[in-house]
Amino acid sequence: MALYSEKVMDHFRNPRNVGVIEDADAVGEVGNAKCGDIMKMYLKIDNDTVSDVKFETFGCGSAIASSSMATELIKGKPLSEVRKLTNKAVAEALDGLPDYKMHCSVLAEEAIHAALDDYESRTGKKTE
Ligand code: FES
Repeated sequence: MALYSEKVMDHFRNPRNVGVIEDADAVGEVGNAKCGDIMKMYLKIDNDTVSDVKFETFGCGSAIASSSMATELIKGKPLSEVRKLTNKAVAEALDGLPDYKMHCSVLAEEAIHAALDDYESRTGKKTE
């Protein structure tokens, strides 16, 4: 069996929503101290819904695929739902990741949560 699913390879080769949102309403940046990978998520938020999202990831193929899939999962979603996104859901949407690559999907969950925390501190609103 191939190490990576077709979906992982697709999102790695053609990542969705790569880039920066200059006037983002929320930004979340996280890193993994062990592997040194860094992920940054930019959100545009309208009516408590993610109207746009972009990411920059300096990291491995699984981290790029996880960020790409995570942006697809949260685009157009209400913040309360976005808050519940788990790394497991990201990995499942990618048809799985090898065990030793699960931490790459954790980075995506953490980057999105960091962006929501940023939104809360900027606006005083709750996202849960
Ligand atoms: Fe660290 Fe993938 S190896 S995020």
